[in-house]
Amino acid sequence: MAAQIEVNASPPSNETGYRSFKLGEFEFTRDEYFARVSWPANGKKMTHVISADSFLRMMMRDVAWGFFYGQVNFDAVFGTTNLYGQVEVYAGRTNPGYRDQGLDYSEIFDTPQIMATFKAILDDWTNEGFDPFAAPAETGRAWLGKKNGHNRAAIERQRAVCERMPGLPGDAPLRSDENGYPINRAFLDVSQDEPEVHAEPGFEDEVSAFSLFKYLSRSDVTWNPSVSSVCKASLCCPTTEEYILPIKHGNDRVEWFIQLTDEIEWEVEDKETGKPRAKVIMKAGDVASMPADIRHQGFSKKRAMLLVWENATVGLPDRYTSGELKPYPIDF
Ligand SMILES: [Fe+2]
Repeated sequence: MAAQIEVNASPPSNETGYRSFKLGEFEFTRDEYFARVSWPANGKKMTHVISADSFLRMMMRDVAWGFFYGQVNFDAVFGTTNLYGQVEVYAGRTNPGYRDQGLDYSEIFDTPQIMATFKAILDDWTNEGFDPFAAPAETGRAWLGKKNGHNRAAIERQRAVCERMPGLPGDAPLRSDENGYPINRAFLDVSQDEPEVHAEPGFEDEVSAFSLFKYLSRSDVTWNPSVSSVCKASLCCPTTEEYILPIKHGNDRVEWFIQLTDEIEWEVEDKETGKPRAKVIMKAGDVASMPADIRHQGFSKKRAMLLVWENATVGLPDRYTSGELKPYPIDF
């Protein structure tokens, strides 16, 4: 049985109703409008302020993605780096304005410890009616003042885990109106036809196909890549995107994007310094390879479908940081 992990939390504040949290030397507090992260540097206490709605959207992704591949920058100051088994939490480390003056700080935690703490923050700071996974137009506001209930159904949402393939007997049913996945308002024009499958007799429960466009048209969350197929180290992660990717993702391997519908604008920066590197506008059908040494943030004015393709080969981050592999996939 897993040991209970202790989370360092204060009692609810008399003033706002929110708890404060400590993780190592980091402190997390929230009030009606803002989340604040504090850390020690140069004998001082540094404090960084983030709007509470943004902070909860960022925290939701970090938790749901299991800290993902590489960096999850909440913004230009605070973030996490996945060390796969442990997670480094940093403030100012990827921002020369802080780092060059010695005002940065980082600390490494075992993954279960930071996961328990981040989940507790998300649970306490998310009020009734706000879903940090949803597009802003499809949820209530994060900052309804003082602490007001919970939205555990949203923040504890579990992914449907495929045992075989969606639609095959023994697996989760395909998304439909009946099981709570209506077509999203942005995808009303997406064909709902499923492909015809003509299996040889005896193979009816082994051969299957489904329309990925129909499946994604019924996605109820944004910026949450789900693995849809695994072939050795090749992970296909299709997702639907609307408004702003809440975090700036810093890659630790080359990541491929295939724009399936609509349009997403990407701001691409240097991973270590945040210096602007490129603006990429991806339209339906475009394919991009995002290098291993960048961070990026996406902007989607209308809900769009994006296929994210990740290479899960063990040991890749070290092969990029050592220079064995170039940060881009091909020399032209
Ligand atoms: Fe990325």
